[in-house]
Amino acid sequence: MKILFIGDVFGSPGREMIKEYLPKLKTKYQPHAIIINGENAAHGRGITEKMYQQFIQAGAHVITMGNHTWDNREIFEFIDKAPNMIRPANFPENNPGKGMIFVTIAGKEIAVINLQGRAFLPPSDCPFKKADELIEQAKKRTSLIFVDFHAEATSEKQAMGWYLDGRASVVVGTHTHVQTADDRILDKGTAYITDVGMTGPYDGILGVDREMILKRFLTGLPVRHDVANGRTQLSGIIVDINDKTGKATKIKRILINDDHMFFE
Ligand SMILES: [Fe+2]
Repeated sequence: MKILFIGDVFGSPGREMIKEYLPKLKTKYQPHAIIINGENAAHGRGITEKMYQQFIQAGAHVITMGNHTWDNREIFEFIDKAPNMIRPANFPENNPGKGMIFVTIAGKEIAVINLQGRAFLPPSDCPFKKADELIEQAKKRTSLIFVDFHAEATSEKQAMGWYLDGRASVVVGTHTHVQTADDRILDKGTAYITDVGMTGPYDGILGVDREMILKRFLTGLPVRHDVANGRTQLSGIIVDINDKTGKATKIKRILINDDHMFFE
């Protein structure tokens, strides 16, 4: 099973990159499953139903979310009608939506789990205990388990990777928007990367107009967060998993921007 995961799609520049490059990535890598983190799709904050539909039509099987899940109010109208969307599973019990999904692709079932970290992010239930609970449920159905851990701290993400080593097929970090160069297979067969990186503006600061963020740092005053214009990038990973064992055999970073050209 080959899975393509695309990191945090940020605003319209990110959505344009999906339109332009997802078909090319499909041709080049022939993934069986495609997962997109869409929590920043709507101007950096949340996602609309139209955007969700666009990702599904573009070929995504699952859309994962994060700390901006509830920031676009439209979500409350459609999350329960969006079968292929998951939000962090360790949000409070009574929140709308769900945190794990099973999708069947090429006759194989994959469990996809979304979790959120607790370091430097709003309070949530323990992502480690929630992971134990969901993996136990998932294992009854499949050995193919993909985890998107949306978290700020590198240490918390590494901790989750090692905690789930040999239990999840893949643990990817999202949220910090800069791709890390530590893609690897852990000792017991879990593919891991601390952060997949962001898909959207290339010349902003984490996707936001850099003049605004600079003003914030220089003056300490609150500023608007507009999506940066100009050049764009796409960040992702492609992983191979042994269907029988659920162990990952290969993980490769994908980074497309003016300094890292895409070759078809
Ligand atoms: Fe985030």
